Amino acid sequence: MTIKAGDILSAREAILLAEAEAVDLSPPIEIPPIPPEAHPNFTRDQKKHVELIENIQKLKRERKAIILAHNYMPKDIQDIADVVGDSLLLAQKGKESNATVLVEASVRFMQDILAVMKKPHQTVLAPDLGALCSLAAHAKPEKVLEWKEAYPDGIVISYVNTDIRIKAISDYCCASANSPKVIRYATIHHPDVPILFLPDVYLGLYAADILKKAGESIDRLWLMMGACHVHDRIKPSHVEEELRKNPGAAVVAHSECSCVSSCIQKIASGKTPEALMQIRSTQGMIDFVRNTPSDTVIMATEVGNIYPIEKAIPGKRIIPASKEAICAFMKQNTLEKVYASLRDLKYEITVDRELAERARIPIEKMLAIV
Ligand code: 13P
Ligand code: SF4
Repeated sequence: MTIKAGDILSAREAILLAEAEAVDLSPPIEIPPIPPEAHPNFTRDQKKHVELIENIQKLKRERKAIILAHNYMPKDIQDIADVVGDSLLLAQKGKESNATVLVEASVRFMQDILAVMKKPHQTVLAPDLGALCSLAAHAKPEKVLEWKEAYPDGIVISYVNTDIRIKAISDYCCASANSPKVIRYATIHHPDVPILFLPDVYLGLYAADILKKAGESIDRLWLMMGACHVHDRIKPSHVEEELRKNPGAAVVAHSECSCVSSCIQKIASGKTPEALMQIRSTQGMIDFVRNTPSDTVIMATEVGNIYPIEKAIPGKRIIPASKEAICAFMKQNTLEKVYASLRDLKYEITVDRELAERARIPIEKMLAIV
């Protein structure tokens, strides 16, 4: 039987296949073109830019709104946002906020979390409904339900990059920032039962490493063959090439990258000290860059993340492991669309009440286990 993206396998088999690049993990949804306004080198007419910012600020006051922006957003959106962060921070800040309108420049699975957690007086808006996620698209509820039927005592840990229907049938949800903690928590609180981690196989590999380090067998771990098309293309060879060009540079990689396995091996073998190589969330990368003794850091994630790092820690040199690592889904958000979103109160994100009640349980756990 041919193994396909989205299939669920024992961790041992999934890891072997992922390391051998034996399964086609290409995106199951179409990649949209990137609007010119979201391109990293786009410059807007200065007068138009100032006008746009003023209009956004005015609407923000009138509507009692806040703007939340993911770390991959175009610089101009990050500059006017009230909160910039990774998926976990955006969910935390969204939950804490009392603003009437929450505009989140991110992708749909993050906006759905706000829609689930929102207070009755709040409206959640997405600047563009086409901001999907290739990783989330790999996980189909039918596959998870089949696994649950085969392993009725098993537990499901879903990564934040999943559709809300997947979260609703999961026991735990985690983000890249707290995946080690959630995985440890779940394994300690559910000894001996099968565990399904989904949908990212590279993060699954990282989960397997967490279990091994805790002295646990990975026999009870199951993984889904899923990946993000942006991070899947950041290969160990990209990191090696940049290390050759920049001897002494530190490396920080997102747990969704296909270079994760080689980074884990280097750290475990003691060849590279942890101060010079770590696996982090987009936000965690900022702390890593701050603390590493190296002045040059090779960053393995979407290139938009260079901006918040350089803003927080000026003076260090951030080199993308791959300049091609651009998420066209995240880049569906533009400053023009943020303005239109506030002006026309579009596009409102809502989640069916019953679905929201079920999804809220694993999301609350994600917010609590930090
Ligand atoms: P973070 O939680 O690290 O922001 O990651 C989310 C994501 O989609 C990365 O591609
Ligand atoms: Fe999804 Fe990958 Fe884009 Fe992150 S970078 S939102 S995982 S497609």
